[in-house]
Amino acid sequence: MKENYPQDMHQPETISWHRKHLLDIDDFSISEYDLVIKTAGVMGGILSRPIKKVPALRGRTIATLFYEPSTRTRSSFELAAKYLSADVVNLAASSSSITKGESLIDTLHTLEAMGVEIIIMRHPLAGACHLAARHAKSSIINAGDGGHAHPTQALLDMYTILKHKPAIAGLNIVILGDSRHSRVARSNIWGLTAMGASVTLCGPRSLLPIGLTPRHPLYSKIKLETDILRALEGADVVMALRMQKERQAAGLIPDIREYVSQFRLTSDRLAVAKPDALVMHPGPVNEDIEISFEVASGSQSLITEQVSNGLAVRMAVLYLISGGSKE
Ligand code: CP
Repeated sequence: MKENYPQDMHQPETISWHRKHLLDIDDFSISEYDLVIKTAGVMGGILSRPIKKVPALRGRTIATLFYEPSTRTRSSFELAAKYLSADVVNLAASSSSITKGESLIDTLHTLEAMGVEIIIMRHPLAGACHLAARHAKSSIINAGDGGHAHPTQALLDMYTILKHKPAIAGLNIVILGDSRHSRVARSNIWGLTAMGASVTLCGPRSLLPIGLTPRHPLYSKIKLETDILRALEGADVVMALRMQKERQAAGLIPDIREYVSQFRLTSDRLAVAKPDALVMHPGPVNEDIEISFEVASGSQSLITEQVSNGLAVRMAVLYLISGGSKE
C-alpha cells in the first residue's frame, strides 16, 4: 500500500481505525471520514491497473447476507473482497435456510462456524445490523438497514463529490425526494454536515423527515424546503432519491403524477443550480419519476461514477475493518 500513497496524505497504516463493525456513520470523526476517503483513493489506484488484484486480504473469509434485493451494494462488496483476494460467500435470504425459519442470530453463528470473519448485511428492519453486531464474533458491515442507515453509500457519495470539488465544507447540497424513508439520505446528512456542507432536504411535506425538533442534533444543520426552485437555487450538488415505495405508508403522496410534476429533477429546474452543479442518485433510478432521463444521462450526472467509486470505497472499508494487510 505504501508506495501507492500520495506523499501529502497520511498513510492508512499511520492512522488508527478502531471499529470492529461499520454500522452507522452518525458518530464518525472527521479523521475517520478522511481515512476512509484517502484509503479509497489508494484502492482507486489499484482499480485503474490492468490487473486489479492485490493480496491484502488473502486467507480472509467474507460473507454477504442480504435480506433485501440489491444490485450495486452486494455485487460491489463481492468484487471488492475478490480484488483484495478474500474468499467470499454470498447468501440471499430468499434462497437460504432463513426461508425455513432460521433466525438471524443462528444464521450469523452458522456462517461464523464456517470461518466467516466479516459479514456484510442488508436487512429491511432498522437496527437489525446493530442486533447482529451484539451477537456476532465476526465484524458486521451495514449494507442498509430499513430506513435507518446505509453508511457505505454515503461514504462513496462523499468520495465522489471530492473527486470533483476541492472540499465538502461550504457546499450547498440539496437532497431531493423521499428523505423521510431514505437510509441513503440519513447517512449522507450525517456525513455531509459533519464535513461542513449546508444540506437542504426538498420534497413534499409528507416525505420530509419527522421528529426534527430543536433538541435533535441535526436540527440546526439542515433546511427543509417544499419548493423545488427555492431549494435548487445556487446548489453545488443535487442528490435525487429513489421513491421508497416499499417503505411508504399508503396515502403519503396522493398521486405519483402530482409528485413528478412538482419534484422531478428536470433540465429546466436544474438550470437554477450553479452551472457546474453535480447531479447524483444512489440508484436504482425510477426512470423519469424522480429524475428526468435527460438529466440522469447528462453531462452533470455522476450516477455511473458513483457506482464505480463504490468499489474503491468498499475495498477501503473491508481493508480497514479487517485491520489492514496481514502480509
Ligand atoms: N444504492 C443502493 O443501495 O443500490 P442497491 O439497492 O442496488 O444495492
